[in-house]
Amino acid sequence: MRDGASDLQPRRLSAAFLFLGLGLVACGGSTGDGTEAADSPAETSEASAETPAVAAMELPDGVTAAMVDEGKQIYSGAGICFTCHGQAGEGMPNLGANLTDGDWLHSDGSYEGIVATITEGVTAQKSTSGSPMVARGGTNLPDEQVRAVAAYVWTLSN
Ligand code: HEC
Repeated sequence: MRDGASDLQPRRLSAAFLFLGLGLVACGGSTGDGTEAADSPAETSEASAETPAVAAMELPDGVTAAMVDEGKQIYSGAGICFTCHGQAGEGMPNLGANLTDGDWLHSDGSYEGIVATITEGVTAQKSTSGSPMVARGGTNLPDEQVRAVAAYVWTLSN
């Protein structure tokens, strides 16, 4: 047991030194932390892929970046918003309005205004496209999810 362990140790060590040595060569011999640098890019890019733009934004009161992320999924998932407003919120002729242009037809465009429009929908009489939007896009999204998808919609033009 003891012999086996002391047999292995030197080999592992030399393998580690060989690896460090290669790291040094690859980095032009500047510092010894070549291995750390090789590890970190994958981790950071995964963590920040979604959030930098939203993180830099000043979100309305009561809105969090997590709500925006959730809302984005609802928009193209359970909320089926994309079917009338387009995958990126660009709007569709004779259907849903453009949600990215900062032009608000049915509210003042504030976060609470957007929540109210989604909750109540838009009647055919008020719709500029002639088509109505049923309350909650015709889904049964609970209030909490309406607030999340409204948070995402708000970020599209802010
Ligand atoms: C069946 C089609 C349809 C679906 C599904 C739908 N909408 Fe709409 N939406 C409309 C129409 C039509 C209007 C009014 C367009 C107009 O006046 O020209 C509208 C208007 C809006 C407005 C007001 C825009 C403004 O300029 O004031 C918001 C916000 C909005 N929808 C968000 C959503 C969200 C979020 C969802 C998903 C939960 C959703 N809509 C689902 C058709 C739809």
